Amino acid sequence: MATCYLHISCTLLLILLLICLPTMTSTEEDACADNNCVLFGDDALAVPNKAAWKYTDNENNAEDKTNVGLDKNTAQNQDTIVIAHGNIGYSSSVSPSSDNDVIRDRTVKGNDQTSGKVAKVSNAYEFPPLTRIDPGTVGQRVDVELEDGRFFTRITRAVGPPIFEIPKFLSDEECDHIIESAKNNGLNVSNLFGAEIQDELNSDIPLAEISRVSEQTWLQRSHLGEDFLNRLHKRLARLTELDIGTIRRSEHVQVVSYVPGGHYHAHLDSIDRYDRPCCFQERCDDKALTPQWADCCRLCRYITVLYYLNDAEEGGETAFPLADASDATLAEKFENLEEQEWYNLSYYCYNSSLVVKPVRGTAIMWYNHLKDEQTGYLGKADQRSQHGGCDLIKGSKWIANNWISSPSSEDRFKPSHFYTES
Ligand code: OGA
Ligand code: FE2
Repeated sequence: MATCYLHISCTLLLILLLICLPTMTSTEEDACADNNCVLFGDDALAVPNKAAWKYTDNENNAEDKTNVGLDKNTAQNQDTIVIAHGNIGYSSSVSPSSDNDVIRDRTVKGNDQTSGKVAKVSNAYEFPPLTRIDPGTVGQRVDVELEDGRFFTRITRAVGPPIFEIPKFLSDEECDHIIESAKNNGLNVSNLFGAEIQDELNSDIPLAEISRVSEQTWLQRSHLGEDFLNRLHKRLARLTELDIGTIRRSEHVQVVSYVPGGHYHAHLDSIDRYDRPCCFQERCDDKALTPQWADCCRLCRYITVLYYLNDAEEGGETAFPLADASDATLAEKFENLEEQEWYNLSYYCYNSSLVVKPVRGTAIMWYNHLKDEQTGYLGKADQRSQHGGCDLIKGSKWIANNWISSPSSEDRFKPSHFYTES
């Protein structure tokens, strides 16, 4: 029972390996050689923004491509393409997303509101090469201006991967706003690649043996509000030193809440599978929340920014069991997958090399992937970024995840489902 979840993971991994081995390139083999294809992925992705897809999924449709002007040559230098409303080819048979993003994506311009309307399609974009903040040494504090005239302290907690803590990144009001928006939206039991967690929760399996015990929801632009999200995005762009366009094309905000006994054992927030496209750019709708979803695409979450929305009374720390581990330690930890004394955070939270206590308003930011030095784009997932939430002992724990997605170099012109115009 103790290794129940690990057995499932290993079986999945084996099946994936068997399917993929014949087509693997040497890069992929290398990735697996140092255990980078261990599958401890996160739960399913936010529901993509259907409206954005409607306007941008034109790769295989020459007619649509002409209509919306989204070709790779013009995409390079234009953030906004103005097109005639009548050319969009918007079909009434496609029901608009429940989020009003469909309206925002078609900003109507011009004086004549009854005919010849013009809409903006702004997903034409080239993802720029990745930046990576130099962490310096552990304990280093740097004051960074994340809003005009407002400085925040960025503290280095680890260098491999770089893990930063930013106290007071969110104000109390902002934390409350996120919690309230999540409550209004309703939370569901967190899922993990279609694993039947609800069944596990209803069974006799001890909570500690279940990989993830929490509730979650996704918050879109319409839930959080224009002004709130725009301000947050700007702050994130300055924090990550990434282009605001990349931030805006990332997944929605995920809110997670834990009650005592809740936790999330060690996992990677992203996946290393070069034989499939990035989920934020590929439509796997029909497979959402099923195990097939994991075969359809890979998460390409270059960075995680995790916000603590309240002070957990006791427990509920975020642990990084392999942060700053030496190559030898890393190899040793992966030697016997069934005896991973670091994976189960209900038992081994405090053995972790880094343990962060939840403090309201604090953000922690880390890199889930290395940067590919040859292309400057998304490289391998970094096993040292394994992390999770330790058992909450007392009180409640609310966090939010802001995953910053970025493609591999070859997909740098491919639009994101998640783009909404500010
Ligand atoms: C997550 C996660 C850690 C925590 O939600 O992906 O890693 O402290 N959470 O809750
Ligand atoms: Fe995570």
